[in-house]
Amino acid sequence: MAKEIHTIGVLTSGGDAPGMNAAIRAVVRQSIANGKKVKGIKRGYAGLLQEEIEEMEAKHVSDIIQRGGTILQTARCPEFKQPEVQKQAAEICRKHGIDGIIVIGGDGSFQGAQKLANLGINTIGIPGTIDLDIACTDYTIGFDTAVNTAMEAIDKVRDTSTSHERCSIIEVMGRDAGYIALWCGIANGAEDILLPEKYDYDEQRLVNHIIDNRKRGKKHHIIVNAEGIGHSASMAKRIEAATGMETRATILGHMQRGGTPTCKDRVYASTMGAMAVDLLCAGKSNRVVAYRHGDYVDYDIDEALAMQKSIPEYQYKIAQTLSI
Ligand code: ADP
Ligand code: F6P
Repeated sequence: MAKEIHTIGVLTSGGDAPGMNAAIRAVVRQSIANGKKVKGIKRGYAGLLQEEIEEMEAKHVSDIIQRGGTILQTARCPEFKQPEVQKQAAEICRKHGIDGIIVIGGDGSFQGAQKLANLGINTIGIPGTIDLDIACTDYTIGFDTAVNTAMEAIDKVRDTSTSHERCSIIEVMGRDAGYIALWCGIANGAEDILLPEKYDYDEQRLVNHIIDNRKRGKKHHIIVNAEGIGHSASMAKRIEAATGMETRATILGHMQRGGTPTCKDRVYASTMGAMAVDLLCAGKSNRVVAYRHGDYVDYDIDEALAMQKSIPEYQYKIAQTLSI
């Protein structure tokens, strides 16, 4: 028989993402609506180990749905990969009466959640990362806001790039994943998109493309470069030398992680937060909430972590065709 949950813990882990607060709010209020106690754990697994745990009431999450970042704060906690540290964390959960825990974060955070589930703490993951790089879901909290922030910034760079007839290399976030770069590449009509999953480091091809476009009368050349490839400043110098076209690099950086969440991020994060509580209340554990093929669903964490995701070929292809 499924174990009844009395107290639900919630934490955010890994990189923050706009919309995490909407998810926290939903977790707190849906828990209370279901007669459960809810405890906020500060600074991810690091705060759990330090017992930075406080009971949350409905009023503690008022006025946060529109705020970026995470009121629980977040951290990276490398020592959580050690089995003895995980056991200590499970003991801390028991000490604080936390029998169900909701982890808002990316794949790394889900691995931590999986370990807690194996140690008898019911756990549910909610996908929170601006990178969209969680294979089981078509949506992750924060991606929509981040990509809109980056798109608006790139539009602005494009204005000045056109006025000065320059080439602009704009670096967007995504250490291992090129989804922000791909979406901006399409939305901003970039002439080139460099994705960690796809780029062949053939800089001569970029140079030829810039020279050809110049001959055809293009007034600017926008290259969206993902953080995983990086080195935008040195790339700009080499491209300027090879093409004779003035070239500037702009690194958008952490501005993409902040700011007020879009409507989509608020609505999806709220739905996922409430769903995570419902799953715990139904006695489920080791599950991750996802949005797939137009529906909110949930997967076993082990299954979710084993899934692979790749850049959609058709979108990648049309991004190049449409920017002709
Ligand atoms: P994300 O959750 O966004 O993928 P990270 O990969 O930085 O971000 O992971 C966040 C945290 O999750 C790590 O700092 C660590 O505390 C925990 N974590 C990551 N990998 C594991 C693992 N293999 N086992 C247990 N905990 C992990
Ligand atoms: O949260 C994802 C992400 O923004 C990646 O795109 C990026 O590589 C990483 O986090 C950077 O994290 P930080 O600068 O916080 O260590």
